Amino acid sequence: MAISTSGGVHLASTHLPNRLWYLRAYQHRVKRRTTISVLPALQNIIRFLSFRLDPETSHHLVLSILARVSKNRYLLNLLRQSSSATALTLPVTVMGIRFPNPLGLAAGFDKHATAFPALAAMGFGCIELGTVTPRPQPGNPRPRLFRLTEDKAIINRMGFNSIGLEQFAHNIGHAKSEVPLGINLGKNADTPLDQARDDYLAGLSRIYTFADYATINVSSPNTPGLRELQNRQLLDSLLTDLKQRQSELSDEHGRYVPLALKISPDLNDGELGHIVELLMRHHIDAVIATNTTLQRPDSLRSRAAVNPGGLSGQPLKPLSTALIAKLFRQLQGTVPIIGVGGIETADDAWEKLTAGADLLQLYTSIIFQGPSVVGDILLDLERRLHSMQISNLAEAVQQARRAV
Ligand SMILES: Cc1cc2nc3c(=O)[nH]c(=O)nc-3n(C[C@H](O)[C@H](O)[C@H](O)COP(=O)(O)O)c2cc1C
Repeated sequence: MAISTSGGVHLASTHLPNRLWYLRAYQHRVKRRTTISVLPALQNIIRFLSFRLDPETSHHLVLSILARVSKNRYLLNLLRQSSSATALTLPVTVMGIRFPNPLGLAAGFDKHATAFPALAAMGFGCIELGTVTPRPQPGNPRPRLFRLTEDKAIINRMGFNSIGLEQFAHNIGHAKSEVPLGINLGKNADTPLDQARDDYLAGLSRIYTFADYATINVSSPNTPGLRELQNRQLLDSLLTDLKQRQSELSDEHGRYVPLALKISPDLNDGELGHIVELLMRHHIDAVIATNTTLQRPDSLRSRAAVNPGGLSGQPLKPLSTALIAKLFRQLQGTVPIIGVGGIETADDAWEKLTAGADLLQLYTSIIFQGPSVVGDILLDLERRLHSMQISNLAEAVQQARRAV
């Protein structure tokens, strides 16, 4: 038996993987029905808060609930059991790290590392924490987060509100994460650009022992001047210093922590060409495409679209996918790509994977759809693999890319 991607059932072979798949799909459905208590409750709380409170207050409330759940083993277990996504396995290995599934939570959601155990229990295959800056800083004045409901988008100009490296490291403490943790590093707003390297080096050194990989964020649009670090000369020297420190830390701790570079969707072809050359020359372990955009596509309908800041969600999707496709053509498999920007469905995820992404992340769709979006996307991806009669995600993606 097999299920077509449209959801209809047709007869095929009845080998074991098919039966296993049916069992998993059944478990997923049963879990959705029987565990009304935790994940759906969380889902309702998020929806309820989202449409009644201002976006930042509701984000803080949701995070504080998740932080509490993270500290309580019983609640954490309940959340894990009620999340259908944790029953789904689509393992992928990228940067030498094995992820239980390809769908990660993008940076900016858990900036202070307070809620990652609960986020992992929701089924994400990876959590990227931060951005964390060396010293604590408040970020930009409020309001700085805007919901564009008609456009399924968000504009934010948070400006790296951060508790600083020391408190961040304290929060992670000795907590063991169920899924790989990425840690996204930034610079303080008052650090001059020519000293930015010191901030990134301090960040890398402090978080090295906690992180499964570290992200160098030079692409947030809300820290004045930050995106200039993507320019050829500045980036060349920054990456030289970071690779040198990575090598020293790796010797010191006997463990190699990969470095990823997160880039903007607003780069022109010339700028992207330079970045590709630097990624390859410095042997950077992955590139994350993309951060939020300063562009305002004509399609935007919400009044909140006039607010300055970085745009994420549905309107970002075509920009980020186009950039991923360009990166993939130019990198030719030498540097893995982590695709992020407007992923809401398994179709969006598949589009990013076939454009060249090896791993995925999302943020905005969890605000609009709630945590069930993770399980929904993963189950649909599994269904797609099943219809292709392939059990390995990377293999299925390769096949689909060849067919394009
Ligand atoms: C409120 C908010 C805060 C964010 N903060 C960060 C951040 O601190 N560091 C970072 O690299 N990206 C940050 N991002 C960008 C996301 O990680 C992601 O790249 C972007 O939102 C595109 O994905 P999405 O369309 O799925 O949201 C933030 C996004 C949002 C919406």
